[in-house]
Amino acid sequence: MTSRASVRRFNVLSDAQAVAAEAAERLISRVQANNGRPAICLTGGSGPKALYALLGSSDYHARIPWDRVHWFIGDERFVSETDERNNMAMAKDIFLNRCAPPENVHPIPTEAGDPDMAARIYENDLQTFYGTRHLEPVKPLFDLVLMGLGPDGHTASLFPGAEALDETERWVVGVGHAPVEPFVPRVTLTFPALASSHEMLFLATGEAKRGILSRVMAGAPLPAARAHSNGDTTWLVDAAAAEQMK
Ligand code: 6PG
Repeated sequence: MTSRASVRRFNVLSDAQAVAAEAAERLISRVQANNGRPAICLTGGSGPKALYALLGSSDYHARIPWDRVHWFIGDERFVSETDERNNMAMAKDIFLNRCAPPENVHPIPTEAGDPDMAARIYENDLQTFYGTRHLEPVKPLFDLVLMGLGPDGHTASLFPGAEALDETERWVVGVGHAPVEPFVPRVTLTFPALASSHEMLFLATGEAKRGILSRVMAGAPLPAARAHSNGDTTWLVDAAAAEQMK
Protein backbone atom coordinates (compact mmCIF):
# COMPACT_ATOMS: atom_id res chain seq x y z
CA MET A 1 0.00 0.00 0.00
CA THR A 2 1.38 3.39 -0.88
CA SER A 3 0.63 6.37 1.29
CA ARG A 4 0.71 10.09 0.80
CA ALA A 5 3.06 12.05 3.04
CA SER A 6 1.49 12.17 6.46
CA VAL A 7 1.47 15.14 8.81
CA ARG A 8 2.19 14.77 12.54
CA ARG A 9 1.29 17.53 14.98
CA PHE A 10 1.63 17.93 18.75
CA ASN A 11 -1.01 20.01 20.55
CA VAL A 12 -0.40 20.84 24.21
CA LEU A 13 -3.61 21.55 26.14
CA SER A 14 -4.08 22.68 29.73
CA ASP A 15 -5.31 19.44 31.31
CA ALA A 16 -6.84 16.02 30.69
CA GLN A 17 -10.36 17.43 30.46
CA ALA A 18 -9.28 19.87 27.74
CA VAL A 19 -7.70 16.95 25.85
CA ALA A 20 -10.95 14.97 26.09
CA ALA A 21 -13.00 17.98 24.89
CA GLU A 22 -10.69 18.59 21.91
CA ALA A 23 -10.77 14.89 21.01
CA ALA A 24 -14.58 14.90 21.17
CA GLU A 25 -14.77 17.89 18.81
CA ARG A 26 -12.42 16.25 16.33
CA LEU A 27 -14.32 12.97 16.46
CA ILE A 28 -17.62 14.76 15.84
CA SER A 29 -16.09 16.70 12.92
CA ARG A 30 -14.90 13.49 11.33
CA VAL A 31 -18.31 11.88 11.79
CA GLN A 32 -20.06 14.92 10.31
CA ALA A 33 -17.74 14.87 7.29
CA ASN A 34 -18.93 11.37 6.35
CA ASN A 35 -22.55 11.09 5.21
CA GLY A 36 -22.39 7.31 4.99
CA ARG A 37 -21.15 4.99 7.72
CA PRO A 38 -18.38 6.72 9.68
CA ALA A 39 -15.98 4.23 11.29
CA ILE A 40 -14.25 5.11 14.55
CA CYS A 41 -11.47 2.94 15.96
CA LEU A 42 -11.44 3.23 19.75
CA THR A 43 -8.56 2.56 22.11
CA GLY A 44 -8.28 0.87 25.50
CA GLY A 45 -6.47 1.75 28.70
CA SER A 46 -7.49 4.51 31.07
CA GLY A 47 -6.51 7.45 28.83
CA PRO A 48 -9.74 7.63 26.76
CA LYS A 49 -12.22 7.25 29.62
CA ALA A 50 -12.87 10.99 30.00
CA LEU A 51 -13.49 11.26 26.24
CA TYR A 52 -15.92 8.32 26.28
CA ALA A 53 -17.81 9.88 29.19
CA LEU A 54 -18.10 13.16 27.26
CA LEU A 55 -19.40 11.45 24.11
CA GLY A 56 -22.21 9.89 26.13
CA SER A 57 -23.03 13.07 28.04
CA SER A 58 -26.13 15.13 27.21
CA ASP A 59 -24.10 17.97 25.68
CA TYR A 60 -22.49 15.76 23.06
CA HIS A 61 -25.04 12.99 22.64
CA ALA A 62 -27.31 14.96 20.32
CA ARG A 63 -24.42 15.87 18.01
CA ILE A 64 -23.65 12.29 17.04
CA PRO A 65 -25.83 10.39 14.50
CA TRP A 66 -25.61 7.17 16.50
CA ASP A 67 -27.52 5.07 13.96
CA ARG A 68 -24.83 5.70 11.31
CA VAL A 69 -21.57 5.54 13.28
CA HIS A 70 -19.67 2.24 13.63
CA TRP A 71 -17.31 1.63 16.55
CA PHE A 72 -14.28 -0.67 16.33
CA ILE A 73 -11.38 -1.22 18.73
CA GLY A 74 -7.66 -1.01 17.93
CA ASP A 75 -6.59 -3.73 20.32
CA GLU A 76 -8.02 -6.08 22.87
CA ARG A 77 -6.84 -7.99 25.91
CA PHE A 78 -7.67 -11.68 25.33
CA VAL A 79 -10.10 -11.90 28.23
CA SER A 80 -13.85 -12.44 28.18
CA GLU A 81 -16.21 -9.58 27.41
CA THR A 82 -17.36 -9.64 31.01
CA ASP A 83 -13.84 -9.17 32.36
CA GLU A 84 -13.19 -5.62 33.58
CA ARG A 85 -9.86 -5.61 31.70
CA ASN A 86 -11.65 -5.98 28.33
CA ASN A 87 -11.18 -2.75 26.35
CA MET A 88 -14.45 -2.80 24.42
CA ALA A 89 -16.36 -3.71 27.60
CA MET A 90 -14.95 -0.54 29.17
CA ALA A 91 -16.13 1.59 26.22
CA LYS A 92 -19.52 -0.14 26.27
CA ASP A 93 -19.96 0.47 29.99
CA ILE A 94 -19.06 4.13 29.73
CA PHE A 95 -21.11 5.09 26.66
CA LEU A 96 -21.75 2.60 23.88
CA ASN A 97 -24.35 0.47 25.68
CA ARG A 98 -26.45 3.56 26.30
CA CYS A 99 -25.90 5.33 23.00
CA ALA A 100 -25.05 3.04 20.08
CA PRO A 101 -27.19 0.37 18.40
CA PRO A 102 -25.55 -3.00 19.28
CA GLU A 103 -25.10 -3.86 15.59
CA ASN A 104 -22.86 -0.77 15.19
CA VAL A 105 -20.44 -1.94 17.91
CA HIS A 106 -17.71 -4.29 16.67
CA PRO A 107 -15.77 -5.98 19.50
CA ILE A 108 -12.81 -8.30 18.94
CA PRO A 109 -14.27 -11.80 19.57
CA THR A 110 -12.31 -12.95 22.61
CA GLU A 111 -14.51 -16.05 22.89
CA ALA A 112 -12.62 -17.40 19.82
CA GLY A 113 -10.24 -20.29 20.60
CA ASP A 114 -7.03 -18.24 20.65
CA PRO A 115 -5.74 -14.74 19.80
CA ASP A 116 -4.75 -15.71 16.24
CA MET A 117 -8.20 -17.05 15.53
CA ALA A 118 -9.81 -13.93 17.03
CA ALA A 119 -7.51 -11.81 14.85
CA ARG A 120 -8.59 -13.64 11.69
CA ILE A 121 -12.26 -13.28 12.55
CA TYR A 122 -11.86 -9.56 13.28
CA GLU A 123 -9.87 -9.01 10.11
CA ASN A 124 -12.71 -10.62 8.20
CA ASP A 125 -15.24 -8.38 10.01
CA LEU A 126 -13.23 -5.31 9.08
CA GLN A 127 -12.89 -6.44 5.46
CA THR A 128 -16.62 -7.10 5.22
CA PHE A 129 -17.33 -3.61 6.55
CA TYR A 130 -14.74 -2.07 4.21
CA GLY A 131 -15.97 -3.97 1.17
CA THR A 132 -12.69 -5.45 -0.12
CA ARG A 133 -9.68 -7.35 1.24
CA HIS A 134 -7.15 -4.78 0.11
CA LEU A 135 -6.68 -1.36 1.63
CA GLU A 136 -6.87 1.36 -1.00
CA PRO A 137 -5.05 4.64 -0.32
CA VAL A 138 -7.99 6.65 -1.69
CA LYS A 139 -10.47 4.94 0.62
CA PRO A 140 -9.44 5.00 4.30
CA LEU A 141 -10.84 2.23 6.49
CA PHE A 142 -11.42 4.54 9.45
CA ASP A 143 -12.55 8.14 9.74
CA LEU A 144 -10.75 8.45 13.07
CA VAL A 145 -8.38 6.19 15.01
CA LEU A 146 -7.76 6.83 18.72
CA MET A 147 -4.46 5.72 20.22
CA GLY A 148 -2.81 5.65 23.64
CA LEU A 149 0.81 5.69 24.79
CA GLY A 150 2.04 2.83 26.97
CA PRO A 151 4.85 3.15 29.54
CA ASP A 152 7.27 1.30 27.24
CA GLY A 153 6.25 3.25 24.12
CA HIS A 154 3.75 0.70 22.89
CA THR A 155 0.51 1.71 21.28
CA ALA A 156 -2.52 -0.48 20.59
CA SER A 157 -0.87 -3.86 21.42
CA LEU A 158 2.16 -3.13 19.27
CA PHE A 159 5.02 -3.64 21.71
CA PRO A 160 8.70 -2.70 21.22
CA GLY A 161 10.57 -5.49 19.44
CA ALA A 162 7.42 -7.49 18.61
CA GLU A 163 7.00 -9.33 15.30
CA ALA A 164 3.68 -7.56 14.77
CA LEU A 165 5.57 -4.33 14.07
CA ASP A 166 6.84 -5.70 10.77
CA GLU A 167 3.46 -6.90 9.52
CA THR A 168 2.64 -5.47 6.12
CA GLU A 169 -0.22 -7.67 4.89
CA ARG A 170 -2.42 -8.67 7.82
CA TRP A 171 -4.86 -6.11 9.25
CA VAL A 172 -5.10 -7.80 12.64
CA VAL A 173 -2.73 -10.19 14.45
CA GLY A 174 -2.62 -12.15 17.69
CA VAL A 175 0.03 -11.24 20.27
CA GLY A 176 0.90 -14.18 22.51
CA HIS A 177 2.68 -12.23 25.21
CA ALA A 178 2.28 -8.70 26.60
CA PRO A 179 5.36 -7.31 28.41
CA VAL A 180 3.25 -4.84 30.44
CA GLU A 181 0.16 -5.15 32.62
CA PRO A 182 -2.25 -6.72 32.20
CA PHE A 183 -0.04 -9.69 31.29
CA VAL A 184 -2.59 -11.41 29.07
CA PRO A 185 -2.35 -12.24 25.35
CA ARG A 186 -3.66 -9.54 23.03
CA VAL A 187 -5.14 -9.02 19.60
CA THR A 188 -4.06 -5.90 17.74
CA LEU A 189 -4.62 -4.03 14.54
CA THR A 190 -1.39 -3.60 12.58
CA PHE A 191 0.33 -0.42 11.41
CA PRO A 192 -1.13 -0.62 7.85
CA ALA A 193 -4.71 -1.07 9.10
CA LEU A 194 -4.39 1.78 11.61
CA ALA A 195 -2.75 3.99 8.99
CA SER A 196 -5.75 3.55 6.70
CA SER A 197 -7.53 6.47 8.32
CA HIS A 198 -8.36 10.11 7.73
CA GLU A 199 -7.00 11.01 11.15
CA MET A 200 -5.14 9.36 14.02
CA LEU A 201 -5.44 10.97 17.44
CA PHE A 202 -3.07 10.09 20.26
CA LEU A 203 -4.18 10.96 23.78
CA ALA A 204 -1.41 11.27 26.39
CA THR A 205 -2.15 12.93 29.70
CA GLY A 206 -0.70 13.07 33.19
CA GLU A 207 2.75 13.23 34.69
CA ALA A 208 3.29 9.48 34.36
CA LYS A 209 3.51 9.89 30.55
CA ARG A 210 6.17 12.60 30.73
CA GLY A 211 9.29 10.47 30.33
CA ILE A 212 8.02 8.24 27.56
CA LEU A 213 6.41 11.17 25.72
CA SER A 214 9.71 13.02 25.64
CA ARG A 215 11.31 9.94 24.05
CA VAL A 216 8.60 9.86 21.39
CA MET A 217 9.16 13.57 20.72
CA ALA A 218 12.90 13.02 20.47
CA GLY A 219 12.30 10.55 17.68
CA ALA A 220 13.05 7.28 19.49
CA PRO A 221 11.98 4.39 17.22
CA LEU A 222 9.15 3.31 19.53
CA PRO A 223 5.91 1.80 18.21
CA ALA A 224 3.92 4.87 19.29
CA ALA A 225 6.31 7.10 17.34
CA ARG A 226 6.09 4.87 14.27
CA ALA A 227 2.29 4.66 14.22
CA HIS A 228 0.73 7.22 11.93
CA SER A 229 -2.26 7.85 9.76
CA ASN A 230 -1.93 8.16 6.02
CA GLY A 231 -3.95 11.33 6.63
CA ASP A 232 -3.35 13.49 9.72
CA THR A 233 -1.68 12.34 12.92
CA THR A 234 -2.23 14.53 15.96
CA TRP A 235 -0.97 14.12 19.50
CA LEU A 236 -3.23 15.73 22.10
CA VAL A 237 -1.21 16.02 25.30
CA ASP A 238 -1.77 17.92 28.51
CA ALA A 239 0.69 20.24 30.24
CA ALA A 240 1.54 17.61 32.87
CA ALA A 241 2.65 15.09 30.23
CA ALA A 242 4.36 17.70 28.11
CA GLU A 243 6.50 19.30 30.87
CA GLN A 244 9.83 18.25 29.29
CA MET A 245 8.80 19.51 25.86
CA LYS A 246 8.72 23.13 26.99
C1 6PG B 1 -4.39 -1.47 26.10
C2 6PG B 1 -4.27 -0.32 25.15
C3 6PG B 1 -2.92 0.33 25.20
C4 6PG B 1 -3.09 1.63 25.94
C5 6PG B 1 -1.81 2.12 26.51
C6 6PG B 1 -2.03 3.33 27.39
O1 6PG B 1 -5.10 -2.41 25.80
O2 6PG B 1 -3.78 -1.37 27.16
O3 6PG B 1 -5.03 -0.19 24.10
O4 6PG B 1 -2.28 0.54 24.00
O5 6PG B 1 -3.63 2.60 25.09
O6 6PG B 1 -1.23 1.11 27.27
O7 6PG B 1 -2.83 2.95 28.47
P1 6PG B 1 -3.29 3.98 29.56
O8 6PG B 1 -4.23 4.93 28.90
O9 6PG B 1 -4.01 3.14 30.59
O10 6PG B 1 -2.08 4.62 30.09
